[in-house]
Amino acid sequence: MTHTITVIPGDGIGAEVIPAAVAALEALDLPLAFQYAEAGFGTFERGGEALPADTIVACAASDAVLFGATSSPMTRVPGYRSPILALRRQFDLYANLRPALGVGIDLLVVRENTEGLYSGRERLEDGGATAIAERVITARASERIARIACEQARQRRGRLAVVHKANVLKETCGLFRRAALDVAAGYPDLAVDELLVDAAAMWLARDPGRFDVIVTTNLFGDILSDLAAGMAGGLGLAASANVGGGRPALFEPVHGSAPDIAGQGTADPRAAILSAALLLDHLGCAAEGERLRRAAYATPHTGDAGTTAQAIIARI
Ligand code: IPM
Ligand code: MN
Repeated sequence: MTHTITVIPGDGIGAEVIPAAVAALEALDLPLAFQYAEAGFGTFERGGEALPADTIVACAASDAVLFGATSSPMTRVPGYRSPILALRRQFDLYANLRPALGVGIDLLVVRENTEGLYSGRERLEDGGATAIAERVITARASERIARIACEQARQRRGRLAVVHKANVLKETCGLFRRAALDVAAGYPDLAVDELLVDAAAMWLARDPGRFDVIVTTNLFGDILSDLAAGMAGGLGLAASANVGGGRPALFEPVHGSAPDIAGQGTADPRAAILSAALLLDHLGCAAEGERLRRAAYATPHTGDAGTTAQAIIARI
């Protein structure tokens, strides 16, 4: 059976690393059909839409999406909304799985992907002198992300850390904490721990080997997954899976569009290739996923995206 994959290279280094990931997938001789779609700031500037309807239709008709990166400006641009946030919402990809594997570290951040401080509820008051963001936490989203985290912990080393800041955010983190601990209580085989997010950051920097699965809210997960990536050898190796909603799931390197190095051809393609490996796992091609992973981890990044990609493909 052929699997259809929608490829969205996007902005910046997304467009440099995604071709390497597609070439690596093609080297495996699997029945994969690729279709290309557009999204991002460049797309917005050309046609007025960051995530054209065609792109959503293409994604909806595919088994998986391989996504590069899109640029998000620091200030509000009328009409522009981050396509990756929109895609996560559109397909209800509520779980962002971010593994970090390196010397002394082998953990998985399970980041809630649909709400929290990413709910898009921000406004100015007092004529612009006060800015307010609403942090939305629901029992439903907290329970379902906790369930995914528990299932993942079961397949790994059986340890789960629920990370929050309930000592300050008594309602929002309080609800997340209770929901997650309640769900985890249904998994008596797991060793469950809870940690405040600041302490979690300290322990991640000091002794990352103590973590197996971390489950946390959206923004905390964004930050801690970058920290974990840094501890595991950098963003060049950080891959992620956006799952939960069924079909399609979406796979992307964590690094983003990296405007500072875009256009030079120096981006590390391994995070995109490792994201393609997660995509294969998800499609039930775990043996091929493992082949990609091995080849990517065995190949150092030379500083040239094309050369690194060729070396990885030669290993495959
Ligand atoms: C990530 C990115 C995105 C996020 C940005 C680009 C919207 O940082 O995937 O981690 O914050 O989720
Ligand atoms: Mn991020």
